[in-house]
Amino acid sequence: MESIVASASSQIGDVGHENAPRRSPPGTFVIFGGGGDLTRRLLIPAIYNLACAGLLDDHFSIVAVDWTDMSTGQLKQNFHDALKNFTSSRGTESVPLREDVWEWMQSRIRYVRGSFEDEATYAQLAQEVGETNCIFYLAVAARFFGAIVDQLGHSGLAHETDGMFRRVIIEKPFGSDLASAVALNARLLKSLRERQIYRIDHYLGKETVQNILALRFSNGFFEPLWNRDNIDHVQITAAETVGVEQRAKFYEGTGAVRDMVPNHVMQLLAMTAMEAPTSFDADAVRDEKTKVLKAIHAVGREDVVRGQYGAGTIKGEPVVGYREEPGINPQSRTETYVAMKLRIDNWRWAGVPFYVRTGKRLAARKTEIAIHFKSAPYALFRDTPVDKLTPNIMLLHIQPTEGVTMQFSAKIPGPTVHLGGVRMKFDYSEWFKEGPSTGYETLIYDCMIGDATLFQRADNIEAGWRVVQPVLEWERDPGFLHFYPAGSEGPKAADDLLARDHRHWLKIGS
Ligand code: BG6
Repeated sequence: MESIVASASSQIGDVGHENAPRRSPPGTFVIFGGGGDLTRRLLIPAIYNLACAGLLDDHFSIVAVDWTDMSTGQLKQNFHDALKNFTSSRGTESVPLREDVWEWMQSRIRYVRGSFEDEATYAQLAQEVGETNCIFYLAVAARFFGAIVDQLGHSGLAHETDGMFRRVIIEKPFGSDLASAVALNARLLKSLRERQIYRIDHYLGKETVQNILALRFSNGFFEPLWNRDNIDHVQITAAETVGVEQRAKFYEGTGAVRDMVPNHVMQLLAMTAMEAPTSFDADAVRDEKTKVLKAIHAVGREDVVRGQYGAGTIKGEPVVGYREEPGINPQSRTETYVAMKLRIDNWRWAGVPFYVRTGKRLAARKTEIAIHFKSAPYALFRDTPVDKLTPNIMLLHIQPTEGVTMQFSAKIPGPTVHLGGVRMKFDYSEWFKEGPSTGYETLIYDCMIGDATLFQRADNIEAGWRVVQPVLEWERDPGFLHFYPAGSEGPKAADDLLARDHRHWLKIGS
C-alpha cells in the first residue's frame, strides 16, 4: 500500500511525513466501458488528480473502449464536462479545473469503438496499445467480465513479457453467490495469473478504511486491548439515506446482502479483526484477512434480519417505499437492509459478537465501526449516586465524518460523585489538509506500481461469499423479510437481535 499523500500538514505538533511517492511506470490505461458513468464520475477525475499530483509518467495514455457511436473529440468533451463538474463540487469551495493538466491529459486520450465480445475490437485495441504496459479496467456490467478476459487471453493482450506488464482491474459485483464467484475466478485464471488480477473494492480506497490498520498497528495502546479479554462486542454500520436510485434493474436481482456484505462490510470486519501481518506486502496482508474471514462461524438463521424500506421521510421530504420505486416489482422481496450477528472462532475473538448492519433509506448516511469495551468493575462506586458505569466505546468514523472518537466517563464537577459520558475526538479534516479525492486515486496508482495490497485476492472474495451464502439460500423463505419506514433506524427485528443479548445498536440518526 503506497501512500499517494505527498505531504500531510498538521496543525499541532510534528507528525511524520511520508516520503514523496514515485511516478507511475509508462503505460496505457484501457477502460472498457469508457463511455459509462463510472468512468466519467470516478475514473477520469481520479486520473486527473494523479496528473495534478505529478504522479503519471509522460508516456501515459488512456484508451477508452465502448460500443457507443462517438468521436474521440466527443469523448474528450464528455470527460472535460465531467471534470468541470467534479472540480466545482469538491468540498465547500469551488476549485477551478486546471486547464494545463487537462491539456496534458486530453492529448493522451483515444477511443476504440466496438463490442466487448467481438474479436475485431481486440485486434484494434492491440494496435492502439502496441508493446506498452497496460492496465485494463473493466468498468462494465458484471456479465461482461468473463467474456472480456477471455478475449484479452485469446488476442494475446493479456500476455506479459519481460519488463512489460498486463494487469486487469475488475469492479464488483464479483459473482452473485459463492458458486458463481468460484466459477468466475476459475475462468479468469485461464487467461491471467492471479498476480495480474486486481479485484477492486472501493471501500479500500477510502483513507479512513486504510487508517484502521495504521491506527491498530502503529500505536502502542490499542493493540494490547484489542481482544476478547477487553472487548465486549463490535458494531459495524454502513447506513445510507439514498434509496435504489436509478439502479432498479441491478438492485432487484442483487439486494443489500450481495451488494454490500461479502465485499465492503467484510473488508471493514477483516481490517478490524485481522491479526497483524508480518509486513505491508500484499500477500502478507491478504493472508491475514482471509484467515479471519475463514474463522467466521456459519451464521444461523436466527442471527440474520433482512429488511425492506417502506414509505417514509428523508431529510424532511416524503419518499416512496421500495416497492413503489420506478422499475421495482410491487411484490418485490429484495432486501434493502440486512443485520447479522457474526462470531469469529479464534483465540482473539471467541465470545465477542460482531454485529453488522447495512441498509438504504436509513436515518442518516453513516459508516462506522464501534468497538464496545467491557465495563469496569462497579464495586468502587457502590456507595455513590452512580448507579451504573457506562462502557467505553471507540468509534472509527469512516464516512461522512472521518476520524476517531473515544467515549469514556469523567467525574462531573461538584461535591458528590457523579459520572458523565465525555468524548475525545480526532477529526481527519482538522488535522490533515488534503484535497478531496474520489477514493480511486490510491487504487489506480497502486495497480500502476504493481502493489495489490488494497485489492482482493480470489480467496478473500470466496471467503466473503462463504459468510453470506446461507443467507442467500433462505431469502425466499416466508417471514424472512421485515419492513421499516424510510428514514428510520431499520426494522424492529434488528433491535430485537441485539436486545436478546442485552445490548442495543448505537443510533444512526442524530
Ligand atoms: C456500492 C453499492 O458498491 O457502494 C451501492 O453498489 C452503495 O449500492 C455504494 O450505495 C456505497 O458506497 P459509499 O462509498 O457511498 O459508501
